[in-house]
Amino acid sequence: MDTLLTTDPERAAAIICRGGIVAFPTETVYGLGADVFNESALAKVFEAKGRPADNPLIAHIASLEQVELLTATVTDSARALIDRFFPGPLTVVLAKAPTVPALATARLETIGIRMPRHPLAQAFLRACATPVAAPSANRSGRPSPTIYQAVVEDLGGRIDAILIGEQTEVGLESTVVDCTGDVPVVLRAGSITLEQLQEIIPDSRGARDDLDATERSPGTRHRHYSPRARVVMVDSAEYAQNRSEAAFIGFGSVIPMTGFRLERICRTFDEYAHELYLFFRVCDAEGIETIYCQTVPETGIGRAIMDRLRRASEQSSDG
Ligand code: TXA
Ligand code: MG
Repeated sequence: MDTLLTTDPERAAAIICRGGIVAFPTETVYGLGADVFNESALAKVFEAKGRPADNPLIAHIASLEQVELLTATVTDSARALIDRFFPGPLTVVLAKAPTVPALATARLETIGIRMPRHPLAQAFLRACATPVAAPSANRSGRPSPTIYQAVVEDLGGRIDAILIGEQTEVGLESTVVDCTGDVPVVLRAGSITLEQLQEIIPDSRGARDDLDATERSPGTRHRHYSPRARVVMVDSAEYAQNRSEAAFIGFGSVIPMTGFRLERICRTFDEYAHELYLFFRVCDAEGIETIYCQTVPETGIGRAIMDRLRRASEQSSDG
């Protein structure tokens, strides 16, 4: 199929309303959207991405009223986090309404809900006039797209349209928080940090261990966010071998980081998050075999960076 490239959110929304699938920018990464109530459109999303059917989608909304279309039970903890962080890079998981198709939530009884703050995403979602289910707009297993060209690379010819925006602001996917119980549990780290959640609800915590997270969030079972190149985590660039064949991403330090075929030195951890996935894709385009990624302290957005680096460096792959 021909994939339409457009900058017009209403034109993109009209395609959703006709049952098509459209990639669109958000403040985190680009998403691949479908009407959450249209089962054949949802099936096209899984097909285009090559996504395992047991990995649930996040429903994106334009207004708080749309929460009621997706869930019948907004817990107190969800209400508090929604008040503080919507719109923004936070996904709250709640019990799903019976009207939401099982395909959208991979047969789970819960649904992830997020209201992006990106103005173009908001204009698009408003024009859709329905919640839009949207995973990240990459082929399954690849790094999420942070520029529209990355969507073209992965999904060009496989989806109806791409709504063109700028490079995404955050660069990593939203923080996913299970709010079905009294205590919010972070299922996936993101730029809304555990510390920020704890300012609102002090007992908020990370998933206790991998098993816990895997059982709650099926997507975490699958390999994610990976370039073709081998990803190696290092404390410092001095541990990198064969620099002339390798790439390095990290932050400034006293140790000179020179001699790599590609290198990206970031001034802040926010910049590291912003650039990471794009750097992975640039390295793949250049045929780099090994990408050395400098580890960061696991506080604030450092937790999300380390989570993505760990997943990218895992060797097992199931799609
Ligand atoms: O920033 C984002 O979240 C982006 C943009 C497009 O909004 N979307 C995104 O979607 O990253 P996706 O499908 O690539 O990742 C969704 C994650 C997966 O790990 C999935 O398992 C988890 O959220 N998830 C979705 N619904 C869930 C649910 N009901 N219970 C537990 N985990 C859920
Ligand atoms: Mg994804």
